[in-house]
Amino acid sequence: MSETPLHRLYHHYSELPVSMRIVYTAALCILGMGYLFGMLYLVHVYSGRDGNPNTLSYEDLVIAYTGSGKGSRLESALRGPMSSMLPAEEANALVSWAQKGAERSTYESFIRPTIDKRCMSCHDGSNPHLANLGGYDLMKKVTEQDTGTDIFTLVRVSHIHLFGMTFIFFILGSIFSHAFLRPLWLKYVLIALPFVCEAVDISSWYLVKVYHPFAYVTMASGGIMGASFATMWLISMYQMWFSGTPEAVAARHGVKEIIVG
Ligand code: HEC
Repeated sequence: MSETPLHRLYHHYSELPVSMRIVYTAALCILGMGYLFGMLYLVHVYSGRDGNPNTLSYEDLVIAYTGSGKGSRLESALRGPMSSMLPAEEANALVSWAQKGAERSTYESFIRPTIDKRCMSCHDGSNPHLANLGGYDLMKKVTEQDTGTDIFTLVRVSHIHLFGMTFIFFILGSIFSHAFLRPLWLKYVLIALPFVCEAVDISSWYLVKVYHPFAYVTMASGGIMGASFATMWLISMYQMWFSGTPEAVAARHGVKEIIVG
């Protein structure tokens, strides 16, 4: 083992009071749950835009950020996040109505009843963040060419993500700073990497609009972020409760193992 002396302020989990370890463990558990739900949400919202509902693909991301190039916002929504709101045959009827030019004459008889029954509980205009689908003109608007998530929405989601992810990785990184890991640079990289990925990820959303292959950057940065989350999470949990005191840490107390009371 290369012997970089331990920093005066470094404390391994085994040196911390049990109360602190309980707070850390509880925070890790809830963050882990949050991450899982986040991923479920991601797959639910994005998969299926390319016609294959089960996987999240490069095409799904390109369509989400730049539009499908052919369909409308209505079509993308019905094939993606709104697909569970109505039976498939009703969704197909809506899509084909939109594709045929969203005629006013067929709206009242065929389209309105479906919308009233399946959509208006959320899209009646009472929620300012959801498209209002009440009436022909508003419906006509969502049948126009889909150009993907608009810049304003991206800006809104960006700032929420930047704040939210920073909280997550600040907490996780601070907990993980108590881990004993050699080589030391690996520990530094694991702590810093998610922050770099966060900046790259969010920038790539905008760049996909300009150049589609940036969707690979979005996927890679998301993947690396998830991998560093999982790695820090597992090492923290393991060292906190199962691995005992590292030799170098015990040595500075002149003992073999620290027994925490
Ligand atoms: C339970 C509430 C709910 C119901 C019912 C619902 N939606 Fe949505 N809808 C949402 C939410 C929430 C979003 C935003 C989802 C997102 O951004 O991922 C949304 C987004 C959309 C969008 C995308 C708007 C945009 O700006 O691109 C369309 C189009 C849409 N819904 C159409 C429908 C249609 C058509 C129906 C009926 C078949 C329907 N929705 C039923 C909640 C609902």
